[in-house]
Amino acid sequence: MITVTPLPSWRHLVAPKPGDAAVFSRWWLGDGEQAYWLSRTAWSLAAIADSWHAAHGRPPLVAVPDFICSAALGPLGKRAKLVFYPLGDDLTAREWPQTEILLLVHYFGRPSVLPREARERAALVVEDAAHVLAPNPGIGEFGDAVVYSPHKMLAAPDGGVLVVRRGGAAVIGTHLAAAIRKLGCTPASPMSWRLKRAIQKTALGAPLQRLRPGGQVRFSDDPAPHELEQTPVLSTFAAAQIAAANLTEVADSRRRNAAALADAISPLAHWAPLFPDFSDHVPYRLVMRCDTPTEADRVYSRLRAAHLPVESWPDLPAGVPMDSAARRLRGTLLLLPCHQSLRPRHLSEAYALALRAS
Ligand SMILES: Cc1ncc(COP(=O)(O)O)c(C=O)c1O
Repeated sequence: MITVTPLPSWRHLVAPKPGDAAVFSRWWLGDGEQAYWLSRTAWSLAAIADSWHAAHGRPPLVAVPDFICSAALGPLGKRAKLVFYPLGDDLTAREWPQTEILLLVHYFGRPSVLPREARERAALVVEDAAHVLAPNPGIGEFGDAVVYSPHKMLAAPDGGVLVVRRGGAAVIGTHLAAAIRKLGCTPASPMSWRLKRAIQKTALGAPLQRLRPGGQVRFSDDPAPHELEQTPVLSTFAAAQIAAANLTEVADSRRRNAAALADAISPLAHWAPLFPDFSDHVPYRLVMRCDTPTEADRVYSRLRAAHLPVESWPDLPAGVPMDSAARRLRGTLLLLPCHQSLRPRHLSEAYALALRAS
């Protein structure tokens, strides 16, 4: 069956071996950098804001791109004054704000560029690499801190890593460990994730996915808002899954899957890959941009009717103008799986079949 996210092996699901963060952090760390593990990037961002507050005696002003989902901002929004800066249709900034903390998002795994003058307009630059597997040319090279969400790219229920780079230590480093401790000491519970993945790996997985496909019924629907549970600590089960991953193999597999799927389906609807070249990044999803919102709506419904995973961009912050690029992107992008548990031929044949039938 084709799932939205990767599946662990039975061995790792049933009898996980303890993982040592000091060892597996090496995938994300460069020389002189420091890693802090949390359950999710949303908590890494909260910890950065709290460290700034501790250092400066007041909450920071954080500039965030307007194409961002509210799930990323829940805890941060309670600790910082957020201002949204506009992106263009190519997901690069149209104007750079003067701010205290600048969040630069590497969308869907692809490096975003930060010009020198923009760098100088912010006291602290945080690279949001939640869609990125691991540092890559153009990622993790210029921010003071970099935040990754291994739970999005690997078969793990939780896991976010906050990397403080050399320059960042002076701005947030001294207060960070205390800020993380203050978030709380409850780990995320892996139980429902484990059960769901176990079912997906059996013959029951496919019929259950047909009965309860998850996600939004209509393309234009946004997920219901929900408060993130106060479970900021990396679970030991997730640490074991992260330790078991070979990121080189994951990268190769994702690139192969995305390229095969893009080739197979590009001619079958009025759409094209948003980033057609996978040689400069490891794709989080294969992102297809439809010519019109009507086409996006049609293809979304078609793929759901064929019981294949398809996602829209979750939701935008309130107040993003209707005529903005962020809204145009929300209205035309479709996200398809390309993760390492899939095989290129099976994946491309399944989607091509569903689209040819439409
Ligand atoms: C760009 C971006 N940053 C951060 C997050 C939050 O990541 P996490 O689920 O690890 O909290 C998300 C998604 O929710 C995201 O899309």
